[in-house]
Amino acid sequence: MNVLVLYQSRNGHTRAAAQAIAQAVQSQRHFASVRSVAEVRSTDVAQADALFIGTWTQGFILFGVKPAGASLWVPALPSLMNKPVGAYCTYRYNPRGSLNKLTDLLMGQGGRMVAQQAFHRDRLDVGMEPFVQSVLDAASGDRL
Ligand SMILES: Cc1cc2nc3c(=O)[nH]c(=O)nc-3n(C[C@H](O)[C@H](O)[C@H](O)COP(=O)(O)O)c2cc1C
Repeated sequence: MNVLVLYQSRNGHTRAAAQAIAQAVQSQRHFASVRSVAEVRSTDVAQADALFIGTWTQGFILFGVKPAGASLWVPALPSLMNKPVGAYCTYRYNPRGSLNKLTDLLMGQGGRMVAQQAFHRDRLDVGMEPFVQSVLDAASGDRL
């Protein structure tokens, strides 16, 4: 399977999460490539069997918490073509509603949302395996 892992990162934690997702995918003998949301092309999406798309949590801890930049960069992505998508975010305190907001935006861009996961920026392994597995399972179901 060919998996595309997209990230939006300011200080590197979300890029590290994207790389950890790619490693988890590769450990299951699938192919994974990692790209920032700014550099992805429509051919990358067209060639992917599944995608992971994530950003960091931005807000004032309790108020205005949102997926950073997503209302700008999600509409600028190529169409997600009903491909299975796992949405993820990194956070320091509490992701609150940012993951659901990201999921809504990605659905609006044509993604078929199959899983979502918030990763604490210092504990990227927590929740990684079942998250990756549910997206791979959805994609392999498509290929049957
Ligand atoms: C301006 C700013 C606002 C942030 N607001 C929140 C927040 O409201 N809640 C939270 O849990 N983390 C918040 N964080 C922490 C980041 O979401 C966290 O450090 C994230 O992993 C950063 O990802 P990055 O290194 O890929 O940029 C904020 C960080 C910054 C720089």
